Amino acid sequence: MARRAGPAVWAVFLWPGGHHHGAWRLPDSTGAELMSFDNYRRMAQDAERGKLDVVFLGDRLDAWPLPTAYLARTARAARLETLTLTAALATVTERIGIVATASTTFSEPFNLARMIGSLDHISGGRIGWNVVTSYTDDQAQNYGLDHIPPRPERYARAQEFLDVVKGLWDTFEDDAVFRDKEKGQFFDPARFHKLDHKGEHFSVAGPLNMERPPQGYPVICQAGASKDGIAFAARNGELLFSVNSSIERARDYYKAIKDGAVAAGRHPDEVKVLASINPVIGRTEEEANEKYEQMQALLDDDVSRTFAEHYFGIDLAEYDLDAPVPEIELPEVGRGSAAGAPGVHAQPRPRPEPDHA
Ligand SMILES: Cc1cc2nc3c(=O)[nH]c(=O)nc-3n(C[C@H](O)[C@H](O)[C@H](O)COP(=O)(O)O)c2cc1C
Repeated sequence: MARRAGPAVWAVFLWPGGHHHGAWRLPDSTGAELMSFDNYRRMAQDAERGKLDVVFLGDRLDAWPLPTAYLARTARAARLETLTLTAALATVTERIGIVATASTTFSEPFNLARMIGSLDHISGGRIGWNVVTSYTDDQAQNYGLDHIPPRPERYARAQEFLDVVKGLWDTFEDDAVFRDKEKGQFFDPARFHKLDHKGEHFSVAGPLNMERPPQGYPVICQAGASKDGIAFAARNGELLFSVNSSIERARDYYKAIKDGAVAAGRHPDEVKVLASINPVIGRTEEEANEKYEQMQALLDDDVSRTFAEHYFGIDLAEYDLDAPVPEIELPEVGRGSAAGAPGVHAQPRPRPEPDHA
């Protein structure tokens, strides 16, 4: 379903406990917010009352890939499963969109077509799917693999995955179900389609056992920053999340997406690109600055260094922690969005692997 550009979209990336790594240690945080549905409910309802368009729920399929001694000093090792959380949030909100993250590398199209389609029905057509391919060996090792497949392979699977999911959502045509009690005819068999997909990665017969989602296709969201990720986003994405450290990088990303969309035969307005900020909020600028300094003081040096090493894919052991930050050449994997402020992105970058070169 083609969507045309309207006004700007405002989204909030919900992370109870805060994106800043020191935030969970602030006096008014208990750290228990992370596993508390009530906290998510309150944030989503606040966002709705504040007239934002979307709440974004990230997800990953491992605890963070930090050594346990460091992980244990962060508020990052535990989370609620996102699709389940989305279903619950849909029932306590009325208008706001909810973007839920699900991986095409570690699921099956039939499963996600049902789950995300169900969420769209439950929410009355308010769901977006953040299509991710996952990127760490730690995630692969929870699904029977030693290593994460190379990126081109992941995105090729993602494309076929998405095509199959959309095909399944097309099982019932829009007006196929009319529930004629008089005639005893629930739906029109001529407007009901079995998929019979046989491709490189999937063999899916269908039909999907669900009426078409209210939106037809829930909104396809994405945040890939590599060449493959951008190509996938330009071809399929409708709402893209990006983290860029400078206006030039943000412009380059925006242009790559819009050019890619046109190259893929789409109207550039069919895809929206969201830039990101990581605000620290106070009643006054002074109060916000104080809060920021307070959080900075709560950062642990060793955890921060280890996090930065994983995030940027570099070894910082040889550098003096108290010396000025030197010029460091980042490996390609770190460049995509490591260029963004750590903490906004909130996903550690994998160490360089052959496919990231
Ligand atoms: C704002 C933002 C949010 C993201 N959220 C998730 C997430 O929840 N789960 C995940 O596995 N990856 C997430 N990612 C990672 C992207 O899906 C993508 O894999 C990453 O940016 C690297 O790009 P690439 O896949 O093109 O290499 C996020 C990225 C950004 C910029």
